[in-house]
Amino acid sequence: MRTPRELPIRMSFVLMAWSRCEGSGNYNVIPLLAGRQGPCSGRGFWRTHGTTRIVPAPPGDSLEPPIPNRMLIRALVGADRAEWLRMRCALWPASDGDEHTREITAFLESGSGPVAVYVADREAGGNLGGFLEMGLRSYAEGCRTSPVPYIEGWYVDPDLRRRGVGEALVEAAEAWARERGHTEIASDTAPDNEASLAAHERLGFAITDRMVCFRKELGEG
Ligand SMILES: CC(C)(COP(=O)(O)OP(=O)(O)OC[C@H]1O[C@@H](n2cnc3c(N)ncnc32)[C@H](O)[C@@H]1OP(=O)(O)O)[C@@H](O)C(=O)NCCC(=O)NCCS
Repeated sequence: MRTPRELPIRMSFVLMAWSRCEGSGNYNVIPLLAGRQGPCSGRGFWRTHGTTRIVPAPPGDSLEPPIPNRMLIRALVGADRAEWLRMRCALWPASDGDEHTREITAFLESGSGPVAVYVADREAGGNLGGFLEMGLRSYAEGCRTSPVPYIEGWYVDPDLRRRGVGEALVEAAEAWARERGHTEIASDTAPDNEASLAAHERLGFAITDRMVCFRKELGEG
């Protein structure tokens, strides 16, 4: 997971989860909305009080109307730009807004950066409540395959935490990976991030390594 770049020393845990076999998980298969390039032909899924329900995709380019206490987990679309920026700034405050804006633009316009971004939609077409960015890394500590899907960013707004939104985002990421034949998924977190550690472990990730990262300023020599 990306951490503030200014930190000279970073300790992190690396976590890895084996994907559950197709059909053996305790959640429904999740064909997610495929973006806003054309009429929605896929399906989204609603998450409410610990249950996941497949819902028919709405016609055209719109999502279902808002339903209280429900989150739609779906792929990020261009209209989410401002909300994605807000949440990225909350998760990674050490990067400035311009840097986030550049990365968001690069993803939306040329597909660079994460291979998949999922969001939790509070209201159809309205504000978001969380996001997950998935990358593909050639190597991840403790993993046996390459490339390996890697959770690079995972965030839920404070008012929505402990309601299963984070778990639903990870389920979407796992479904993405499983559909593409991956058998494991990796992530990391800072050792003092108790909530993240607990959530990773609760969602089936196992700690594979602990490391300390260093940085040295190179002078003129
Ligand atoms: C980590 C984060 C994304 C989890 O999102 P969430 O929506 O609260 O997670 P969920 O509600 O799906 O929680 C799933 C499980 O994780 C565990 N968990 C989550 N937050 C926890 C906390 N603060 N303390 C203890 N366990 C926690 C619980 O077991 C929970 O299941 P339960 O509520 O049924 O007991 C969220 O806390 C967050 O955005 N934190 C700030 C950003 C961050 O640290 N991101 C991760 C960087 S590595």
